[in-house]
Amino acid sequence: MENVPYLDLRAQYLPLRNEVLNALEQVCESTSFAQGPVTSQFEGEFAKYCGVDHCVSLNSGTSALHLALRCLDVGPGDEVVTVSMTFIATAWAISYVGATPVFVDIDPVRRTLNPDNLEAAITPRTKAIIPVHLYGMPAEMDRIMAIAERHGLPVIEDAAQAHGAKYQNKPVGKFGQIACFSFYPGKNLGAYGEGGALTTSDASIAHRARSLRDHAQSQKYLHDEIGYNYRMDSFQAAVLGVKLKHLDEWNKARNDCAKLYTEFLKDSSYKLPARDSDSEGVWHCYVIEVPERDRVRSALQDVGIQSAVHYPVPIHLQKAYAHLGYRAGDLPVTEALCEHCLSLPIYPELSKEKISRVASVLLDLESR
Ligand SMILES: Cc1ncc(COP(=O)(O)O)c(C=O)c1O
Repeated sequence: MENVPYLDLRAQYLPLRNEVLNALEQVCESTSFAQGPVTSQFEGEFAKYCGVDHCVSLNSGTSALHLALRCLDVGPGDEVVTVSMTFIATAWAISYVGATPVFVDIDPVRRTLNPDNLEAAITPRTKAIIPVHLYGMPAEMDRIMAIAERHGLPVIEDAAQAHGAKYQNKPVGKFGQIACFSFYPGKNLGAYGEGGALTTSDASIAHRARSLRDHAQSQKYLHDEIGYNYRMDSFQAAVLGVKLKHLDEWNKARNDCAKLYTEFLKDSSYKLPARDSDSEGVWHCYVIEVPERDRVRSALQDVGIQSAVHYPVPIHLQKAYAHLGYRAGDLPVTEALCEHCLSLPIYPELSKEKISRVASVLLDLESR
């Protein structure tokens, strides 16, 4: 029986090989390795793709979140409302600026920030809200934006898992003041190394982010504030420029994979991911909920099927955040999802046969 990897980056690389190697060679020939013309070119293309005025390319999605908060002058003593059901970097960025993350529970269907819980988490110290478009599913942005506007709060969209996703026919990233993307290799749009971007239609935010990523230099060797080396290297921009042209077709292929899983598993007792009719998600992950997750996961592994867990421990219960004083039971929907979530293999080149195999093993395991 053929093994099923969780992700197959080689399958994506092979048809692009010549184009990618050519783009990399051009960077070598130009010797413009750090933030050269190819990074500016990619910035223009990605901004256009996202329907925003500015894209600031960076060395990671974590840096994008960090700079987003710096650009909004969030700092010590401030609070930022977000979710605990996300990759840890969402919270790291809040801690990097000396602010405190305040975690609210998610909606059990969308698995994103539940607007019903948002208002109660806002205090006079709140300075920003970070919804996360988890697994490629857009958060409920109309209700989140309405609450944010009522309180005069900026919104940073964590779109690290949602390149190309749409909410009410509008691309994610167009709702908040700032959006943050990751180009980590396994993302829907992934670099061949680390990468990220901050997008915005606010020229002053873009200007400040460009400065901060490059040591906050107003002129060479003159620094007006504390800055960082968060620049994107030209090799990553060259690869991303090649890959961006394929993003929509890859997202469509992921959607086809998701539909097949849903079709094959629809009569099972596993809780399947639902997609709201207001959104076009991009299936970064296909996450089912399984009562005995670890047993099922290791049984899949035994027959050569890889899976993943996004994420086993919610952020509010991580040791790194013990000082915040959260307890088990504080965010029940988040905690239940962490306990039961199982991400099935998904990537654009995944064949129907492999999906069918994963589904039939899952159906077989269910009856045992
Ligand atoms: C939701 C979310 N936010 C932020 C990040 C951080 O991005 P990076 O790994 O590029 O720093 C990730 C990446 O895994 C993510 O999934």
